[in-house]
Amino acid sequence: MKTIKVAELFAGVGGFRLGLDGYHDAEHPEFDMPTAGPFETIWANQWEPPGTESKQFAWRCYETHFGQGSCVNEDITKVLDDYETGINTYGIPDYVDMVVGGFPCQDYSVAKPLSQAGGIEGKKGVLWWDIYRFLKLKTPRFVLLENVDRLLKSPARQRGRDFAIMLTCLANLGYAVEWRVINSAEYGFPQRRKRVYIYAELTQDTWDLRERIGSGIISSAFPIEPVTVFNEFEISHDPYEITQEFNNSPKAKSPFTSAGVMQNYRVITGDVIESYNGPRKVLGDILVPASEIPESFYVPEEKLERWRYLKGSKSEERTNKRTGFTYRYSEGSMAFPDLLTNPSRTILTGEGGTGASRFKHIVEIDGRYRRLVPDELDQLQGFPKGWTDTGMSDGRRAFCMGNALVVGVPHRIGKIIAGSSHN
Ligand SMILES: C[S@@+](CC[C@H](N)C(=O)[O-])C[C@H]1O[C@@H](n2cnc3c(N)ncnc32)[C@H](O)[C@@H]1O
Repeated sequence: MKTIKVAELFAGVGGFRLGLDGYHDAEHPEFDMPTAGPFETIWANQWEPPGTESKQFAWRCYETHFGQGSCVNEDITKVLDDYETGINTYGIPDYVDMVVGGFPCQDYSVAKPLSQAGGIEGKKGVLWWDIYRFLKLKTPRFVLLENVDRLLKSPARQRGRDFAIMLTCLANLGYAVEWRVINSAEYGFPQRRKRVYIYAELTQDTWDLRERIGSGIISSAFPIEPVTVFNEFEISHDPYEITQEFNNSPKAKSPFTSAGVMQNYRVITGDVIESYNGPRKVLGDILVPASEIPESFYVPEEKLERWRYLKGSKSEERTNKRTGFTYRYSEGSMAFPDLLTNPSRTILTGEGGTGASRFKHIVEIDGRYRRLVPDELDQLQGFPKGWTDTGMSDGRRAFCMGNALVVGVPHRIGKIIAGSSHN
């Protein structure tokens, strides 16, 4: 089978690469991961913008595992600016079959009409435009992107506008697109993590959009119950027009729901229900033995009350220190400790550190309460145990995992892409 050459953008600690290429290093059999097919990541980019503690830890982790020179450590905007001047200091390959990446949900609006600007003028620092530039330069056959599910509804005053801009940009480049919100726990993974996956393909075939929702690349990897209710509509060819006019009513809902397909600006979207009967993992399955837990991860008896308070339900009067404004604050309770018999809640970037928090995980083992150790966070995301143990602090390891993805998701999608790639 022909090799599928991959470029990994916003590579972090290499979740897409692990899922697609797999991993094998005879000296580290503990990190072995299966490949999804004939994928070979030939170029990667990862850069942490300057700020507190920007020591490029994710990039270091990537290079520790995949080798020196495996990942370019520079701002992607700078890398592409350089490439467009014809220098190619950062060795972007002439040809790639596939581009992958997880990137932030930002404001994708464009400033000028195409006719006046001679191109799309996106806001500086908005990383979608770098992906767009990369696709325009390299025209890979396949694209697989990951984002928070909020992307389908952003921004609040024009619900769905940013996703519509993204779809139009992909259509302008000739791509047909599938998207799906996948909650990893519904498909057997030990963490509840809801993310939107966007698959795009340069194709001459005309897709049957209705059929494709239930039997396209993503749904073949993550099956769903038959979809009966659809919303069908056309999006503008011009991202500027979308910026100005899309869903311009503050109360309107986003037209984009949990699954959809787009080709030639024609969109079909519907809410879907998963259909999965395979094995399931839960939080208890990824815990490491007590002998591997440093004492600092246990919650001291005197701090337990604070944790209980933060996790508990409350309805209390609070005063804004700056404005003096008083208001009632209410929130429900959450499981404390976290249930070992369920998939865990989503790991966030703030999972590390000893401070009490509503969102960090706490487990109770043999009558003692403790936080999750980084080796457990690695495994909750489907990375091999110890993957991020490359010289970072525990807090930094947690941060990298909060940013990463469930490796099994691109792995399962990759298997289907590999199977379809000889067509
Ligand atoms: C959502 S995370 C992706 C994580 C990755 N999928 C993984 O498995 O670890 C986005 C990554 O993009 C990186 N990033 C942010 N701005 C960047 C830029 N301008 N150029 C390159 N990388 C950037 C961040 O440091 C972060 O690691």
